[in-house]
Amino acid sequence: LNIGGEMELQVALAQAVTVLEDAGVEESRLDAEVLLAHALELTRAQLYARLNQRLSPQDQECYQALIAQRVRHEPVAYIVGHKTFYGLDFLVDRRVLIPRPETELLVERAIEMAQARSPRLIADAGTGCGAIAVSLAAHLPEATLYALDASPDALAVAETNCRRHGVEGRVHLLLGDLLSPLPQPVNLIVANLPYIPQGELESLPPAIRDYEPLTALDGGEDGLVAIRRLLAQARGHLRPRGAILLEIGADQGPAVARLAQQRFPMAKVDVIRDYAGLDRVVVVDKVSTTTKS
Ligand SMILES: C[S@@+](CC[C@H](N)C(=O)[O-])C[C@H]1O[C@@H](n2cnc3c(N)ncnc32)[C@H](O)[C@@H]1O
Repeated sequence: LNIGGEMELQVALAQAVTVLEDAGVEESRLDAEVLLAHALELTRAQLYARLNQRLSPQDQECYQALIAQRVRHEPVAYIVGHKTFYGLDFLVDRRVLIPRPETELLVERAIEMAQARSPRLIADAGTGCGAIAVSLAAHLPEATLYALDASPDALAVAETNCRRHGVEGRVHLLLGDLLSPLPQPVNLIVANLPYIPQGELESLPPAIRDYEPLTALDGGEDGLVAIRRLLAQARGHLRPRGAILLEIGADQGPAVARLAQQRFPMAKVDVIRDYAGLDRVVVVDKVSTTTKS
């Protein structure tokens, strides 16, 4: 980015868009705006109102550095240090996966299912930055949550997010393998575990492959290693009216539904599609046992 002298914000923006486009960044305009707003500590609305103003040399330098990070395909959320999920703002950095909008579907369903259950004891396996657990705690004031992860780094980020949203008293952060640290059975287990087949990791876009934690992505040989192990562990950690919600990859619906039905032959197992029409969440509901033959 070649910025000489004091230039108007809109000129700096246009130059940055070109640089990002040349680097193959898809949402170049949006990213250029978000990063300029970040450099100037403005909202995007405030930025639009000032497009004719001039950029100070210090701000130019700062903007240039941010654009250079994005040119190297670093995700915007890591550059700015936060990401909105389910209407809440989460601290994110390279210690955790960036929460995705598809996962909001799992949260939505989990809220409905938790509301029909009491006591509201919920486990979030593989909590990462805490997006799911914190969103559930914020929307279910009577719920107690266990947010579990095998990564101490991820739990440190989740702890900050619990405090940021005032739910640290009800979200218990536990380190360990999948459900094994749970101190008591719960009636809802939710999980967005790694589900990318090992052989596909190399072909992921560089923004994911080169920046997000491998332990948050790698689902083993067929992508289902963590999900299979969680289903095997789940029985001993679920109360009688319990349910499980699992996020899955778009082509994993039938396989995960089959695994779940094998582990829970009497439960009702459903595959739910996301807003793009893709299989996204598998629901295992032990309550509906009587309707099964
Ligand atoms: C795909 S990320 C999901 C993060 C977060 N739940 C979200 O939806 O944004 C998966 C998380 O599972 C954790 N994880 C992977 N294997 C695990 C295991 N065996 N036990 C506990 N956590 C695990 C990773 O550290 C990572 O934080």
